[in-house]
Amino acid sequence: MQRKKFIGIFDSGFGGLDIMRGITKALPDYDFIYLGDTARVPYGTRSKETIYQFTKEAVDFLFGKNCELVIFACNTASSDALRLIQKKHVPENHKNKKVLGVLIPAAEVAYEVSKNKKIGVMATASTVASKSFARELKKIDPEIKIYQQACPLLVPLVEAGEQNSEITETALRKYLKPLLAKKIDTLILGCTHYGILERKIKKIAGKEMKIVSESKIIGRKLKDYLVRHPEIEKKIAKNKRRTFYSTDLTDNFQKLGSKFFGAKIEVKKASLK
Ligand code: DGL
Repeated sequence: MQRKKFIGIFDSGFGGLDIMRGITKALPDYDFIYLGDTARVPYGTRSKETIYQFTKEAVDFLFGKNCELVIFACNTASSDALRLIQKKHVPENHKNKKVLGVLIPAAEVAYEVSKNKKIGVMATASTVASKSFARELKKIDPEIKIYQQACPLLVPLVEAGEQNSEITETALRKYLKPLLAKKIDTLILGCTHYGILERKIKKIAGKEMKIVSESKIIGRKLKDYLVRHPEIEKKIAKNKRRTFYSTDLTDNFQKLGSKFFGAKIEVKKASLK
C-alpha cells in the first residue's frame, strides 16, 4: 500500500511559519512538513538565478520527504522561481507533483476587496523587481493600478525581534508614505514577515485600508484548492503531524519560529544540494 503523503511548506526562513499557522488552522487534520532555508536567508536581496537554484533544491528536498504538494510561503521564491519550477523542474523531476505559490491567491483577494482598484504592494526588493504581483493583478483586470514598494529594512527588523519598536514604526511610515500618496484602498503584505506587522501597518495606513495578509488567506485558498482537486487531497495523510526542518539550527529559529507559528516547535536539520 502506498505511504500517505504530506503537504510541504517552503520558505527562505522562518517567516513562512506565520503562513503555516494560517494553513494549519484552516486544515488542522492534514500532515505537514515545513522547510526553512535559514542558512541562506534572506532571498529577497539575491538574484533571480540564485533564488531559482536555492528554491529548486528545497523542492527536491520536500518531494524527497514524500510531499505530494508543495506550497511556497516565500513571496520571493513565488515571484522569482515558481513559474520555471512549475514548467520545467517539476515535470522533468517530480512528475505529477504540484507546486503552488502565494501571489495569485493574494492578488485575487486584493481584487475582490478593492473598490477603487488602486492596490499597493509591500515586498522585498527582489519581489518588487520581478513585478510579479503587478503581472498577476493585471491578468485579473488590466485596469487595476498597482503601486509597489520595496521594504528592505523590514525583514532584518522582524528577525531582530524589533517588530514593536520605534525604529520599525519609522521604517513603516517611510515605506507607506508613497503608497498612501497614491490613494490606494488595498494593501498586499507581499512578504512572509509582514503579517506580524499588520496591526502597526493598519495603524499608520488607517482603518479604512483593506489589508491583504497572506497568513489569513492562504489556508482558505488551499482548502478550496483541495476541494477542487480530490485526486491530490485523497493522497494526503490526516494524522495532524507537523515536522519542521531548517538548513541551519539556531536558537533564533527555535525561539522566533515558535513565535511565528504560535506554538512551540521542534526543528530538525535539513541538508540541501
Ligand atoms: N520569505 C521572504 C519573502 O516572503 C522574506 C525573507 C527573505 O528575504 O528571504 O519574500
